[in-house]
Amino acid sequence: MSSPFDPSRHSSLRAQAEVLDGEDSLRHLRDEFHIPSKADIKRQTLGQEDRSNASHTDETATCTYLCGNSLGLQPKRTATRIQQYLGTWATQGVQGHFKPLKDSPLPTWLDADARAAKLMAPIVGADESEVAVMQTLTANLHLLMSAFYHPDPNGRHKVILERTAFPSDHFAVLSQIRHHGLSPETSMVTIESPFAEDPVISTYDIQSLISKHAADTALILLPGIQYYTGQLFDIPTITAYAHKHGIFIIWDLAHAVGNVPLSLHDWDVDAAVWCTYKYLNGGPGCIGGAFVNSRNSLVTTTLTDEQPERGYGNRLSGWWGNDKGTRFAMETRFHPVKGAAGFQLSNPSILDITSVSASLEVFELAGGMVPIREKSKKITAFLEHCLSTMSEEAKKLFRTITPSDPEQRGAQLSLMLADGLLHPTRKAFEDHGIVVDERKPNVIRVAPAPLYNSFQDCVAFVEGFEQALLAARKSV
Ligand SMILES: Cc1ncc(COP(=O)(O)O)c(C=O)c1O
Repeated sequence: MSSPFDPSRHSSLRAQAEVLDGEDSLRHLRDEFHIPSKADIKRQTLGQEDRSNASHTDETATCTYLCGNSLGLQPKRTATRIQQYLGTWATQGVQGHFKPLKDSPLPTWLDADARAAKLMAPIVGADESEVAVMQTLTANLHLLMSAFYHPDPNGRHKVILERTAFPSDHFAVLSQIRHHGLSPETSMVTIESPFAEDPVISTYDIQSLISKHAADTALILLPGIQYYTGQLFDIPTITAYAHKHGIFIIWDLAHAVGNVPLSLHDWDVDAAVWCTYKYLNGGPGCIGGAFVNSRNSLVTTTLTDEQPERGYGNRLSGWWGNDKGTRFAMETRFHPVKGAAGFQLSNPSILDITSVSASLEVFELAGGMVPIREKSKKITAFLEHCLSTMSEEAKKLFRTITPSDPEQRGAQLSLMLADGLLHPTRKAFEDHGIVVDERKPNVIRVAPAPLYNSFQDCVAFVEGFEQALLAARKSV
């Protein structure tokens, strides 16, 4: 049995991590990011002066940031691209909308959404015409539900979602049901794991519930990766099952996008929404994304005023969804852009879109999602291995609730702590220079993001976690 605080265990892990870091073909990308230092995460000030003097390449000074599932770190090139955008605005004013600048890598503001969609499309496995970079996740969810959820009180009216869905999804569904004059009591169906101690929901459980409510379900909303447990759902199988029963399905990909490879087009997904501030490193509250399968966004410009729905469906519309050719003609007849872009409402924040596009450049440097997933599997398995070497005393104080099968998870392990340990453990993390995310009542989520985390980060976390846990146990 291993004893608490056994430094020899950790030095062996450190040696393994050094070898793995040396072999890591994405290792150079860590340098593309600002990694906060241990001093940064403790300070109560911006600390700009200290920061300009500090060496950010000193690995011992950087904190252990394993929180990319909540907020991804800032790519260094974000500031460069934003400066270029600000320069355009400063020197060109309104001309920035239309006038390309010879020495700028940025598109005109009129084309910024199209370029962002082009960069985003390979991340989600879609044709660029099926992707729109717009609004925010919950707003996009409402927009898609307004277009594709048309309940019939005497026919298909139910929405199936998880019982423990992210609250914003839950609220969005509740409000849509009420907006259509229906009651959540009869129109909302929730799914949960049949086992109280194991929150993972099997594909079989989901299929059984779909079968049970198949005749009167209009819509299913599920997460690609469940935010709390880190479970990766079988998107193609569940999508096919929903279609077999004539049900439209929307995926919330907040935790899946930029984390696991997606093939939304080939999986025949109907529609999906996501945010860009987690694994996509767009920055807090940055602009979101939406996928609309090309078969669900067919438009005709020959619509008549009498039958507008035949032209562009019942979507909510705004001028940025209007064809670029006539957008500035100021006509009041809507000519939607073909594809997902036709679901846009307003001109997008160029500040946001520049930020997310800068980050997507790093995904291009990485060679796309395949090498990212390869490292993700290795580093998550290594984190799991490090946890397994902890002392028996410490291991009794938590359990991993994320599936152990690498095919059923991304780069996140959710650790459920014994009662009362969350608060003191979290406080101790700051002393150890560790940043992870906590979800009350008992879970910490640890996410080794392949673009910037190292295998040595996993060892640093487990060292600090073990000490924090054992100290926390004494304090309760
Ligand atoms: C799974 C999931 N869905 C929805 C949201 C809400 O996102 P937004 O605030 O961008 O609408 C989040 C935010 O973290 C999330 O994690």
